[in-house]
Amino acid sequence: MILLDGKALSKKIREYIKKEVSQLKQKGVIPGLAVILVGDNPASQLYVNMKTKACEDVGIYSINHRMPAEISENELISVIKMLNDNPMVHGILVQLPLPEHINEEKIIESIDYKKDIDGFHPYNIGRLVRGYPLYYSCTPYGIMKLFEEYNIELKGKDAVIVGAGNITGKPMASMLLNVNATVEICHVYTKELKEKTLNADIVISAVGKPNLITADMVKEGSIVIDVGISRVGDKVVGDVDFENVSKKVSHITPVPGGVGPMTIAMLLYNTLKAVNTNKGF
Ligand code: GUN
Repeated sequence: MILLDGKALSKKIREYIKKEVSQLKQKGVIPGLAVILVGDNPASQLYVNMKTKACEDVGIYSINHRMPAEISENELISVIKMLNDNPMVHGILVQLPLPEHINEEKIIESIDYKKDIDGFHPYNIGRLVRGYPLYYSCTPYGIMKLFEEYNIELKGKDAVIVGAGNITGKPMASMLLNVNATVEICHVYTKELKEKTLNADIVISAVGKPNLITADMVKEGSIVIDVGISRVGDKVVGDVDFENVSKKVSHITPVPGGVGPMTIAMLLYNTLKAVNTNKGF
């Protein structure tokens, strides 16, 4: 069994970004990322802190906008518009989820697609689906980088994605399809989940439910990617029963230290890319 070490690969990517950023600085360009956090969801606060710290580490200038949960949709949109027009800001990240009274779609659409380093804007999703992407969403992008690093061939493979969310499941399906994998997406209404996962060469679980994927559900020698993050007592666990599943598969990601650090590395990577995307702005 080979452990897909996201911690190690993310470190390598971050070192590359650090070098690129220092070269840009010599030319007088400082990559800038605006990070917007609405409300005080503790998990979101933790993620945002990790993201801004990662920016600091590689020399990306991050601008934090923390807003109260009561902020109106229009107020939030006007902050985003200001950031769209600010040439020091190359990327804009609005941490999700947003409070209930704010329409997530409206907010995402208000971000200039050239600054949408999360790859959530319909323009970017549309380009991904059509097969000529501008920005890839960070979590599935990180997973694709792990496949690349470990020379995992995807063409013709049967991939089953568990979880059909906008952040991971849906963009992941497009990325795998674009490299000619056969993709099936499962969700809460899927009948006989086990029947699907048991036949898959690759299982990617992005649900957030501990022990959802057990050893009897995966094929011998298959590849398992665990995107779930849940807290059980004082431990952070994924969707996969790692102890037993790892005995059966050829490759698996750990939680923590698998997909999580890759998401942050790809956010930095997209922010670096945004410097070129916004040129001539
Ligand atoms: N919430 C959970 N994951 C993400 C992510 O990758 N980006 C943003 N903006 N919000 C999230």
